[in-house]
Amino acid sequence: MSEKYVGRPVDRLDGAIKTVGEARYAGDHRYPDLAHAALVHATIPRGRITAVEDAAARTVPGVIDVLTHENAPAMKPPPKVTLLNLSTLAIGTSVNHLATDEVHWNGQPIAVVVAESQEAARHAASLVRVTYEEKPAVVDFAAEEPNAVPQKSNALQSARADKGDAEKALADAEVSVDLRFTTPQHSHNALEPHTTTAVWDGDRLTVHEGTQSMAWTRRHLAQRFGVPERNIRMLSPFVGGGFGGKGQVWAGTLLAVLAARATGRPVRLALTRAGVYHAVGGRTPSTQRVALGADRDGRLTALIHTSVARTGRVGGHLEQITAASRHLYDSPNIHLRQSLVQLDLIANTSMRAPGESIGTFALESAVDELAWELGMDPIELRMRNEPERDPIEGRRFTHRMLREVYAVGAERFGWSERDPRPGSMRDGKWLVGMGVATAYHPSLQMPASVTVRLDADGGVVVRCALHEIGVGAATAQAQIAADELGVPLESVRVEIGDSDLPEGPMAGGSAQTASAASAVLEACRKLRRSALDLARRSAGSPLRGATDPRARDGGLYQDGRGETYAEILARAGRDHLEARAGVGMLRFLARTVREQRRWMKAASGAQFCEVRVDQDTGEVRVSRWVGVFDIGRVINEKTVASQLRGGIVMGIGLALTEETLVDRRTGRVVNASLADYHVPVHADVPRIDVHCLDDPDPTMPLGLVGVGEVGITGVGAAVANAVRHATGRRVQDLPITLDKLLPH
Ligand code: MOS
Repeated sequence: MSEKYVGRPVDRLDGAIKTVGEARYAGDHRYPDLAHAALVHATIPRGRITAVEDAAARTVPGVIDVLTHENAPAMKPPPKVTLLNLSTLAIGTSVNHLATDEVHWNGQPIAVVVAESQEAARHAASLVRVTYEEKPAVVDFAAEEPNAVPQKSNALQSARADKGDAEKALADAEVSVDLRFTTPQHSHNALEPHTTTAVWDGDRLTVHEGTQSMAWTRRHLAQRFGVPERNIRMLSPFVGGGFGGKGQVWAGTLLAVLAARATGRPVRLALTRAGVYHAVGGRTPSTQRVALGADRDGRLTALIHTSVARTGRVGGHLEQITAASRHLYDSPNIHLRQSLVQLDLIANTSMRAPGESIGTFALESAVDELAWELGMDPIELRMRNEPERDPIEGRRFTHRMLREVYAVGAERFGWSERDPRPGSMRDGKWLVGMGVATAYHPSLQMPASVTVRLDADGGVVVRCALHEIGVGAATAQAQIAADELGVPLESVRVEIGDSDLPEGPMAGGSAQTASAASAVLEACRKLRRSALDLARRSAGSPLRGATDPRARDGGLYQDGRGETYAEILARAGRDHLEARAGVGMLRFLARTVREQRRWMKAASGAQFCEVRVDQDTGEVRVSRWVGVFDIGRVINEKTVASQLRGGIVMGIGLALTEETLVDRRTGRVVNASLADYHVPVHADVPRIDVHCLDDPDPTMPLGLVGVGEVGITGVGAAVANAVRHATGRRVQDLPITLDKLLPH
């Protein structure tokens, strides 16, 4: 493959239209008779609806209907979640909305108002009065956490591991730390609140929605509404941020489709910002214990990491909180457990590096604390425990460059200028601190199908139902196809975001780009072979006798002789050539299981953070950041850096500001707005220096490893460790708000 475009900071192909506002999101589609919907949310955590008073709502001018469990057409109940049917993983909650009078969480959607305008729908929704018979609810994570139940591992997730006797080794250790950490619930706050525009035409359905999984959502809608999958078309060319919050099907999607069917009108349902907090899951809160034992030289003898998280009683799943602890440190004794409690709250869901983002906060804070105990540089401590093989299963790493990322990071950051004594570095009233932490996220692939077509005019069309969640999905595949076929980038068009296209991977698990790349490469190779076969069969072709031509300059060339694809097609009288590639689910699963037994593969990085802490108020400002990452081959320097930077920004929120506050009596989220739930804004984010090693992973397509999630991992700990250095105080409870740093 010629490498003209792969690796370059190519501008995003959709950059211009997004910048000028021409990119059309799910809420930008107009239909002449479009109606608007708004949700009514339950105000109790658990119980039964005894009456719905909708008379006032119905008098609002423009109101078309008020749908409740008393009058809404029934959806089929959600199927059971099974690992054999991966699309069931898209089920956000087992509640069959509007088919039951039962309330399972405070904020559960219990009615939908449909009106001629969004304003009328929302106003009318505010007038619907509901009375309930309340039942006792369990909503307080901190109170319930002691009752958590340890989980078993399954094919997708490892909930436990044991090697040696970690508790005994801890007790016998020369030096040890044993720390408890807490992290709060987090809510999704993508720029675009979840929005669905649903249009029925007989028993055919078109859904405009920014989703991370068109295929799974379509399958789910087909099951719930009793129509064949082929009758449903999902259109999702742009997703205004996903982060896991648009990876499952939530009430808004289902109720927009239901309302459209009930009213016979196209319906748009755009969740309010508060609606996202109430109707879409977020990150679990956690309590964690990390205990480390070591000898005086800093060699680990015991590593214990246990966690408690929560799901909802009506949905949610394990988040892999202890996952990074399986792979980061060589210790003869390791004990990992993940436990869960079920609460009467909305189900949890994936949120950027679910598990790893908060798990690395605890693990990497504890490692830093151990370095203090040992009086050792925290990077040196990590290097002394860098494993040769995956510490628990003994698998080989496909690629392990933590030594390199720390070396490069230390240089770029100026780590050697750090005076290790706590509180020793100052800038006026600011206490300056520097901290490091390791980033780690496993590498995944999912099944993907693509077609690639060569047209008579030399144009190339790549088709795959990819999701553009802001990563430059089409751009990366265009770069790959252009290089593999040896054509100019301008001649490649990538069609994405439409479920009528060949089925793509979901945009999750940092897996979309690698998954599609594997199929795109295969299809391009097939195309080159077909083009060569065509040329060799024709008498006049300069490629007669060619066996191994190179793809370049829009065609195939060997020993200075060759011709363009356009010439090959013209001579053969063909108007196009097309190739399809991709693996089916069974072959895919078989390959994945085989690979997982053999290899451990992951993206990793070193996060370097400098903070300034106001010595009087405890205010923490992040003042510098360097992140050095090993993500295998870099496909696009610009979009990759943006992804990693975005992850770090989200991690700064996790470290310092983000916290969903759940009322302990009522289970109501009390800060369901961006005024009260604080995400980092520009003033909170310094210049972030991102650097990638660009060393291909030998087992991945083109050597690329996913980049979406690794950026947030380690960030919470890097900030906490810098605060520890600045102040001498170890904050174990996120977020690190100023009250936790006030003088005692
Ligand atoms: Mo993700 S948290 O796999 O979108």
